[in-house]
Amino acid sequence: MNSTKTLTLVTGANRGMGLEIVKELSQKGQQVILGARNLANGQAAIAKLAQNGLQADLVQLDVTDPESIDQAAQKITAKYGYLTILINNAGAVFDHRQMPSNISQTNLQADFALNFFGLIAVTQKMLPLLQKSPQAKIINISSMMGSKTEALNPTSTVYNASAVGYQSAKAAANMYTVQLAKELHKKQLPITVNAIDPGMVATEFGGVTPELAKQMGAKPLTTGVARTVELATDPTDLTTATFTNTAGTVAW
Ligand SMILES: NC(=O)c1ccc[n+]([C@@H]2O[C@H](COP(=O)([O-])OP(=O)(O)OC[C@H]3O[C@@H](n4cnc5c(N)ncnc54)[C@H](OP(=O)(O)O)[C@@H]3O)[C@@H](O)[C@H]2O)c1
Repeated sequence: MNSTKTLTLVTGANRGMGLEIVKELSQKGQQVILGARNLANGQAAIAKLAQNGLQADLVQLDVTDPESIDQAAQKITAKYGYLTILINNAGAVFDHRQMPSNISQTNLQADFALNFFGLIAVTQKMLPLLQKSPQAKIINISSMMGSKTEALNPTSTVYNASAVGYQSAKAAANMYTVQLAKELHKKQLPITVNAIDPGMVATEFGGVTPELAKQMGAKPLTTGVARTVELATDPTDLTTATFTNTAGTVAW
């Protein structure tokens, strides 16, 4: 196996921004592994890519299921023995428009299971593979909705958002980003860890259709993944512990 070829795993990649990231990184010559919790949906996504002349690998990966994460890591280890980039993209909101005073515990726990605990479980399991690369990157797909500075800014697009479970889980994942970046830096391990805000993007996120999201002002997929693709394809960008979008730095 050629261990110098950039090998990228994208979680939650059977649709939405994850699939677009797989498509664009494949077009740019990376070997991409498409993570999908439902294998049939993953196969359908692989078939769509093939129609565009693109080849990607597939791995079953439910980020909330430790056994699934274990098996995915084992498969990648057996087939490739390394990983260059991990893109933690899988995410969803379970408490859209719920009020902090009465948000349901069930939804709160679902927000954290996927957007926080799942992200950490995948990251920890993939770290040994990332350490096999001369230089590796972990990119966490966060959200401006996780920024307390923006939540307090009356002119911000997220000022009126109310999904405290999702917002807190993204804020917590941001703290994990910072702390893991610092740990790896102190240990002089060549793995950067950064968070990215894609902006409001026309996907099925939040249970809407991409068409409805567009009518509400959401940006196209290509714009939503632009900063992620830029960071994933720039070998000279070795910044770590940052939170950025296409406009620059996002306040934590
Ligand atoms: N769209 C936006 O406006 C927006 C804004 C800011 C941040 N984000 C973030 O961007 C990322 C991608 O969102 P998107 O807009 O592309 O959403 P999406 O179209 O709803 O796609 C979400 C993806 O996550 C997967 N997923 C859900 N639960 C999973 C699990 N337990 N294990 C593995 N995969 C799972 C879904 O798989 P299934 O098909 O099996 O459900 C799907 O592939 C998320 O982290 C989201 O929080 C989105």
